[in-house]
Amino acid sequence: MDRELVIVSNRLPLSFEKGGGGQLRAKQSSGGLVTAIEPLLQEHGGIWIGSAGTEQDPRIREELAALSEQHHYRYEPIALSAEEQAKFYEGFSNEIIWPLFHDLQSRCNFDPTYWDFYLRVNARFADCAHQVATPNALIWIHDYQLMQVAPVLRREAPDARLVFFLHIPFPPPDIFEKLPWRCQVLEGLLAHTVVGLQTARDTRNFLACLRTFLPDITVGRRAGDLRVVRRNGHETLVGAFPISIDFKDFERASDADDVRRRSTVLRSHYRKDMVTILGIDRLDYTKGIPERLKAFGLFLRQNPGLQRKTSLIQIVVPSRESIPGYQQLKAEIERLVAQVNGEFAEPGWVPINYIHRALPRTELLSLYRTSRVAFITPLKDGMNLVAKEYCACRHENDGVLILSEFAGAATELKAGALLVNPYDQSAGAAALVQAVTMPEAEQRRRMTRLRNQVRRADLGAWLKGFLAHIEEDPATRQETIVEEPAPA
Ligand code: G6P
Repeated sequence: MDRELVIVSNRLPLSFEKGGGGQLRAKQSSGGLVTAIEPLLQEHGGIWIGSAGTEQDPRIREELAALSEQHHYRYEPIALSAEEQAKFYEGFSNEIIWPLFHDLQSRCNFDPTYWDFYLRVNARFADCAHQVATPNALIWIHDYQLMQVAPVLRREAPDARLVFFLHIPFPPPDIFEKLPWRCQVLEGLLAHTVVGLQTARDTRNFLACLRTFLPDITVGRRAGDLRVVRRNGHETLVGAFPISIDFKDFERASDADDVRRRSTVLRSHYRKDMVTILGIDRLDYTKGIPERLKAFGLFLRQNPGLQRKTSLIQIVVPSRESIPGYQQLKAEIERLVAQVNGEFAEPGWVPINYIHRALPRTELLSLYRTSRVAFITPLKDGMNLVAKEYCACRHENDGVLILSEFAGAATELKAGALLVNPYDQSAGAAALVQAVTMPEAEQRRRMTRLRNQVRRADLGAWLKGFLAHIEEDPATRQETIVEEPAPA
């Protein structure tokens, strides 16, 4: 790409907090957005604008400047005040948009003071992008925390190339309509040149919301299921671009010596015929962790013959601890782990290994290598890159992926995975039986399909697909648009 790439996301891959002695502590960010965007910038270079926490310490800039030298791309930190953090990040982003867009409207707190802070902080990100980006730069804004950056940037630079990618799902109109600021959010998104969503379902939902709440739009259809939305003389290209991982990097890294050595040690902790089942999630109510633990408990209860032969390793990465609901979720998970372990454990066998912390990469890759089953059952998820990472690390083409049908990844991985409804504990327990007892030939057939899919549609392909539409000539684009009548 010839243009300068400017990534704008709520979070940088590192944030800083002050330790007891006043020293700065860097913390690695978790979640799919950082996982996907970091390798992209490492390869292409550019600028990454995002928050590095709430500390206003000048040493943060210095630390990030030093890191920028090592990484071939530059960090532009935005420091949020404690009030901005509370009302923009915790409040509007994570107490309203996050639950609503994951179809969990009863968890929303529609506090009217949040919106002003959302606008104010989005305007700060826009000002920063305006200052640091060259006039010809591609400004790529990411995710639900920043849906009002583009209107501000458009006013300052009407011809800017502004593109947006939503990493989380987009809800259907009967859920989206609960949002008091629904029209402003949609108008903000239409200020971009391209809006990318994870799946065809999200795209359908977004278009249905646009038609319902902004009836003055027109929609044209392009090849490849892309849509062109026109409003007030401005055009926005809308389409599904399922995000992915750097397949080769995961494949290579998970075959490195340290990972092989650690995998051997991990295996030696278990009996030879033990099947380990892996769950890895940020601590979040959308991830369906309590539901999964209950399904695992049911599986053990219904299958005494598989007790002592299966073990669930559940890793929960701490996340959003100051937001109401997340602490209760932690307590609920811990109660369920204790309940299942209390019911079934015996000397020498603990059914659930519960790990509540982020793990180093070597450990994570070794767990992908050694776990015969991945049990990934979010109640709703934009994509879920863990599912793709697991497949990339299965060098022997064995292993079974149990995946929620409500994860974005299910669209691409349904041919090889065992799909389950995460709310259906009986289905979860049955899928576990099928996975644990699956003959090797079937594992290989399924895993080969999964790996081929992830290899083909990797991060590079995602980027190429997305950027192709940014660089195209609007005049050529016109010729291929077929007007779509509004639905009756
Ligand atoms: C999801 C979101 C990201 C977010 C990540 C971690 O993957 O799509 O935008 O960064 O979760 O959440 P946090 O609130 O810690 O940034």
